[in-house]
Amino acid sequence: MSITRENWTSRTSFILAAVGSAIGLGNVWRFPYICYENGGGAFLIPYFFALFTCGIPLLMVEFIMGKRARGGAPQAFEAIRPFMSWAGWLACLCAFIIVTYYCSIMAWSWDYIWYSMKLAWGNDAAGFFNQQVLNKTAGPGMLGGIQMPILIGLILTWLAILLILWKGIGSVGKVVLVTVPLPVMCLVILAIRGLTLPGAVDGVIYYLQPDFSKLQDPRVWLAAYGQILFSLSLGQAVLIAYASYLPKDADISNNSFMTGFINCGFSFFAGFAVFSALGFLAYQVGVPVQDVVKSGPDLAFITYPTIISKLPFWAPFFGVVFFLMLLTLGIDSAFALVEGFATPLKDATGIKHTKVIIWLCIIGLAIGILYVTRGGFHWLDIVDKYVSDFGLVTIALAECIVVGWIFGARKFRKEINDTSEVKIGGWWDICIMFITPLILGYILIHSLIKGIVEPYGGYPAWANWVGGWGMIVAAILVSIFLGMKFNRKENK
Ligand code: PFF
Repeated sequence: MSITRENWTSRTSFILAAVGSAIGLGNVWRFPYICYENGGGAFLIPYFFALFTCGIPLLMVEFIMGKRARGGAPQAFEAIRPFMSWAGWLACLCAFIIVTYYCSIMAWSWDYIWYSMKLAWGNDAAGFFNQQVLNKTAGPGMLGGIQMPILIGLILTWLAILLILWKGIGSVGKVVLVTVPLPVMCLVILAIRGLTLPGAVDGVIYYLQPDFSKLQDPRVWLAAYGQILFSLSLGQAVLIAYASYLPKDADISNNSFMTGFINCGFSFFAGFAVFSALGFLAYQVGVPVQDVVKSGPDLAFITYPTIISKLPFWAPFFGVVFFLMLLTLGIDSAFALVEGFATPLKDATGIKHTKVIIWLCIIGLAIGILYVTRGGFHWLDIVDKYVSDFGLVTIALAECIVVGWIFGARKFRKEINDTSEVKIGGWWDICIMFITPLILGYILIHSLIKGIVEPYGGYPAWANWVGGWGMIVAAILVSIFLGMKFNRKENK
């Protein structure tokens, strides 16, 4: 099978695509909160330590793995050791599981762009989100009916993904020229608006006031590593697939530094927009800032709409800007996750790219219907918890072991340096062989024990078994099966 492989049309397209996959909802609704909870300004120390010892070294690993194998994650693992291709398939499956629920969050964003125009949540954003938009059932055991407006948003999202990926990596390179700068512009508008509101300074002080005593708590360091991994979209097959379209002489180290810095810079900046707005809300309601701090969907779909309603002028405009930002932040992460699975499927089966994309979009939409039911939110919460706690960490750990110990860190570093402008030194070997795997191993064992001892989120144990452990075990078994079925060894 020697089909000529497409390449990125320019280095900028590749970097923007990698940055687009990294910068997602998590930069806005996860980082600022984690930073505030784990020592404020002092958290930047473990955060940047994690960026240099884990984030950037693993970006280099994923970029070079994809480039040298000229294939997706399974082919990249297989090129190092054929028996490891299952780890690549597991990464693809995790990516696909993630995108099925990620798209339902984007569906809410489509709907909220519409609702913002008339501030449809009125005085009760929480009631509107929980009882009207999601119309949540009491628990995961009851699915209830489908929420039609969310289904429409879901269909729009999958249609957008289909159209963007249809023509292959060339069109991705063009789309990211819009979907990466647009949310940055929205964030700048929101930050300027936020910082000029009364109470904003108190919010920012809360965000960044350093509490150095927190640095003695190992959980703060683990939070930094977890956030770096999730935020840079590591361990999800996405960056390996993107890197497989790099030309042979592409620079690896520079591209990794740029992706890491742009993503983390964006997160840090997002904190100003979020906390200035929270400071304003606290000022308006007359409570301390810590009483209004939220993260995740609660921040985006309850707290932020509440803040928007209280703005002195142009409230609908700022509402539309906020939800447009969420949508454009999410879309490039979403199509990256689909491409992460499509690239290796196409490479392994020889089926045409377009056909693979159509099928993945249909299957993704079909699975996504679960999440747009009234009970869907509970399942989203459970599945997200398990995939992010176990999936990504396992795959990133496998990368460290395969590259650092089985292939040999020094040999791998030489490959990186061969085409890189900035040559990396022995520090990289230490990160990949010792620091990162030790910390990831610790995180994995810690989460395993915690997951076994207490079922997540107060959901019944059976729901944790079905949506959590059952899903993880099924994904591992399917990965092993795919690894055996599509081993390319015989072609070498
Ligand atoms: N990095 C994204 C965020 O921080 O929101 C989440 C994500 C997107 C992870 C795409 C993985 C991915 F492939």
